[in-house]
Amino acid sequence: MKKKVLTLGLGIGLILGITIAGCGGSETGEGAHAESSQQVKEGSDESSEESANPFGVGPIQEEMKLPATIDEQLAAKGEEIFKAKCTACHKIEEKYIGPPIKGVTEKRRPEWIMNMILAPEKMIQEDPIAKQLVIESNGAIMANQGLTEEEARAVLEYFRKIDAQS
Ligand code: HEC
Repeated sequence: MKKKVLTLGLGIGLILGITIAGCGGSETGEGAHAESSQQVKEGSDESSEESANPFGVGPIQEEMKLPATIDEQLAAKGEEIFKAKCTACHKIEEKYIGPPIKGVTEKRRPEWIMNMILAPEKMIQEDPIAKQLVIESNGAIMANQGLTEEEARAVLEYFRKIDAQS
């Protein structure tokens, strides 16, 4: 007996629902539907692309504004730091344990180079380019040399000087 009443109630509800929906005008309803399914499609296309951070991973996440001319004094300081802390693995012209330095400022953004110097352990785990470099270096891992941001900036200036000369 209870079941019958329920079924009857449902039936009336359904009829009422259909009548109300019908009043809304089916044309606009369909139009809106088609539009929203298209939006979902576009959205899913975008999210399937790999979106690497062009700055890399690390402490430098703000765009660096570098002057066009080389700061010779800063570059000289960078050269000293490079010779003391980087030449165990890097040569300027040729590949050594790590990649050659020449051309690096043409290939990579300054923020990316700074992060590679300041946080190599993060970069090789999370940045797609740095990960690829590990493979190309036969699994050799760049060690964090503990440079300050200022020292890394000096080394970057030295790299810029090398590339400006070629
Ligand atoms: C223990 C060896 C080692 C030391 C020391 C080292 N690196 Fe590296 N470096 C590497 C390796 C190997 C890579 C490639 C990424 C990897 O395999 O970890 C690399 C990658 C780089 C890259 C990216 C090159 C490119 O083609 O994009 C830069 C820039 C760099 N190093 C700068 C430096 C600087 C500056 C220093 C000194 C402060 C330094 N490295 C010290 C081994 C080293």
